Amino acid sequence: MRAKITVVGAGNVGATLTQRLAERDYADVVVVDIVEGLPQGKALDLLESGPIVGYDSRVTGTNSYTETAGSDIVVITSGLPRKPGMSRDDLVMSNAKIVAGVVREAVAASPNCILIVVSNPVDAMAQLALGVSGFPRTRVLGMAGVLDTSRFRTFIAQELDASVHDVQAYVLGGHGDSMVPLTRLTTVAGVPVAELIPADRLAVIVQRARDGGAEIVNLLRTGSAFYAPSAAVGQMVDAVMLDTRQVLPCTVYLDGEYGVRGVFTGVPCRLGAGGLVEVVDVALHDEEREALHRSAESVRQVVEIMEQRRAEIDPALKSLAAS
Ligand code: NAI
Ligand code: 2OP
Repeated sequence: MRAKITVVGAGNVGATLTQRLAERDYADVVVVDIVEGLPQGKALDLLESGPIVGYDSRVTGTNSYTETAGSDIVVITSGLPRKPGMSRDDLVMSNAKIVAGVVREAVAASPNCILIVVSNPVDAMAQLALGVSGFPRTRVLGMAGVLDTSRFRTFIAQELDASVHDVQAYVLGGHGDSMVPLTRLTTVAGVPVAELIPADRLAVIVQRARDGGAEIVNLLRTGSAFYAPSAAVGQMVDAVMLDTRQVLPCTVYLDGEYGVRGVFTGVPCRLGAGGLVEVVDVALHDEEREALHRSAESVRQVVEIMEQRRAEIDPALKSLAAS
């Protein structure tokens, strides 16, 4: 039997991801949205691309969860994107209600799936998905670090006229203004980036990576980024579907790793068939660790808002901590 991946949300990120996954040809893809006709139309259009592009993936669009039953992976992209001037945290209550409802329905249909959360503010939404699903932390992942790292790698490659393949980097922490690009561990063809780019230029590049989401929101005016975000989810899905055990920066529930407990934050994660295989321990300098802790605390503040307003989000939700 072919594997099945559900993508919830047929908007910019969800539809682009559906296309990327269909083209991988390793799973059938079901795309769900509340707007009638939207997922059906996009799915049919993608299905009709198969003979040209050369894939047999069955792509189905639906407004219900019946067709999603037994999915191996459910990616949640449903929710509102940012508008110019909005922070990701501004989306919290509206997207929390959407994400909680989606998680309830999706896990009822696919109780053994791995959840990958994209909706913003993503670290907090992933924590909500953990609380609503009651899944072990290994099966709830949030996507942000792969995207933030890709932006950072892009700007470094541009600066040096280097190939993106040669730029290795990590951006850790929450997906927000306090994200932590680890310049000390960033290399270009094995050479530390600090030996190639002067500190003042590097600081500008770090800030541009931090503001990467807002830069695109300000250009688009009616939505946020989706090509790089969907590519980032695709890389995480590959690691799970193909059991590659690749180490990717993902937001996961930390249980003492890096000195952080009880909150989702971006750290290097080995991903494989069961989802999170392990949190990879990279030795951090004191200032890097402190920056990671500050970032985790800013996620915790958003989680606390949701914890206080839990009944509004989902009356059945008992706690946002891991069970
Ligand atoms: P979009 O507005 O293009 O698409 C969202 C879709 O969700 C819409 O088609 C809408 O009808 C659907 N939707 C709303 N409520 C739903 C429900 N209850 N069930 C099913 N579908 C529902 O937005 P876009 O650009 O695709 O972004 C989606 C989310 O992903 C936003 O919250 C955005 O901020 C976030 N995002 C996160 C990134 C990250 O790095 N974690 C990167 C890019 C986007
Ligand atoms: C981004 O970073 C909006 O979170 C989204 O592009």
